Amino acid sequence: MSPKQLAQKSFVRVLGLRGPEFFDDFYRDFLGRSPEIKSKFAGTDMERQREVLRASFYHMFDYFETRRPNVRLEEMARRHARNQLDIPPSMYDEWLNCLLGLLRQHDPGFDAAVEEAWKAVVMPVIEYMRGLYE
Ligand code: HEM
Repeated sequence: MSPKQLAQKSFVRVLGLRGPEFFDDFYRDFLGRSPEIKSKFAGTDMERQREVLRASFYHMFDYFETRRPNVRLEEMARRHARNQLDIPPSMYDEWLNCLLGLLRQHDPGFDAAVEEAWKAVVMPVIEYMRGLYE
């Protein structure tokens, strides 16, 4: 199975078991990781945020195959840049650790291969987003 298929199956398992709660879990954990991260979300409508995060996974799966950002992914990356949300490149490590930690906790099929597959899918997107920071 390709990394994309492994990660997609993991995503389906987790959403099947956890449903939208998964995204609540994600932001609870992520915002709790540092005051700097929390302050970035000071004015955020978290209900909308959970929904846009859910959608962004499909753009990430897509990017894994095409290596070409679709319009939504490009807009998303540009929003995180220094001149907009100003998300420093270092914060993405926490983002990925948070995701992997939750998957480890909630995906009954999680193992080393699934972890590698998720990294293979998400890291290129993170690299792309970091590349648009300046
Ligand atoms: C691969 C990693 C990430 C993905 C897929 C992602 C996804 C998204 C998406 C889809 C949006 C909505 C953009 C829109 O308004 O249309 C967003 C907004 C946002 N993201 Fe990220 N993000 C990532 C990393 C981060 C990191 C590391 C931070 C650090 C704090 C962060 C902070 C924010 C903030 C503050 C917003 C704006 C919320 C608002 O509108 O008030 N993101 N993100």
